[in-house]
Amino acid sequence: MLIAICQLSTNTLAFKYHNSMNVKTEVLHYLMDNIGSFISGTALSESFNCSRMAISKAVASLQSEGFPIDVSKRLGYKLNAGADVLSTASLLKELEDSNIDVYCYNEIDSTNKKAKELSLNGIKPPFVVVANRQTGGRGRLGRAFSSPEGGLYFSLVLSGKDIINPDLLTTSASLAVSRALERLSGIKTDIKWVNDLYLNGKKVVGILSEGLVNIEEGGLSEVVIGIGVNLNVNPEQYPEEVRAIATSFYPDGSAPFSRSKAIAECVNEVIKIQNEDFLDEYREKCFILGQSLYVLRNGNKREALALSIDDFGHLVVKYEDNTIEALSSGEVSLKL
Ligand code: BTN
Repeated sequence: MLIAICQLSTNTLAFKYHNSMNVKTEVLHYLMDNIGSFISGTALSESFNCSRMAISKAVASLQSEGFPIDVSKRLGYKLNAGADVLSTASLLKELEDSNIDVYCYNEIDSTNKKAKELSLNGIKPPFVVVANRQTGGRGRLGRAFSSPEGGLYFSLVLSGKDIINPDLLTTSASLAVSRALERLSGIKTDIKWVNDLYLNGKKVVGILSEGLVNIEEGGLSEVVIGIGVNLNVNPEQYPEEVRAIATSFYPDGSAPFSRSKAIAECVNEVIKIQNEDFLDEYREKCFILGQSLYVLRNGNKREALALSIDDFGHLVVKYEDNTIEALSSGEVSLKL
């Protein structure tokens, strides 16, 4: 199978576990459901029909992944309240689609890059690659994406067959992430066409969608939707040039929900929205409509008025000479 990689825009198109329960996953889920309370080893071993030794091993393995679990000979095991450990097991607990595989890394260059590598090595979608931090996070137009600890960095790989309208994938993903994070946090974000989310005038989420094209058979074989969310990041953690344009949902690191919950909700919503008509909601959230802006292209910038989003997700603009253009991809910047 010959595969090529392309960046999707509106005009084009560790450790790994399968999402099946094992003792470790079961124990984690049980402790998460009873967070802050001790559960006896006997209760766990009876629930999962295994030896107390198997439970003890599962707990040791979870502790080695960073889960703060207290062990008491008398009382059993307790996952400490407030634990926010990103792991395959904690994500599996929250994902609605039980067929999704999860690949979880502590540090990685780029989850999009890893997702494409896994695809090219024959791993079948759907799967998600997540990381605590990225050392070579990638943004649109070849830019870097600063990815310190505290943010969410994940790439969802779906089969091209599951994408009804590839032209609108990026558009739909931004609305899905906005919905999911608003539901969890109560914080409203605005969309800057095509797919950046903004909070208080600064960028808080970036999305990079890429497609794998099967050259022999033609068409998209897989899509990679890479999502970076500044969740619990203190702006001090960013390089100075990023600090001026980026913000974070919870700069003091106090998100009242776990990163696993947030990632899973975004993934659930991105999958769900593929079957919806969502453009009107997208238009309502798109804060640049009616605004004067610059259209940036090949190093040039041209002044224009943002008129509307058409049914293909294109941004319709009117230039100073009254000509009208529907932009299918690219970059716009607001006139200050
Ligand atoms: C942009 O704002 O230009 C897009 C940023 C996309 C960043 C995410 S973080 C997870 C995934 N892995 C990457 O290397 N990039 C995307």
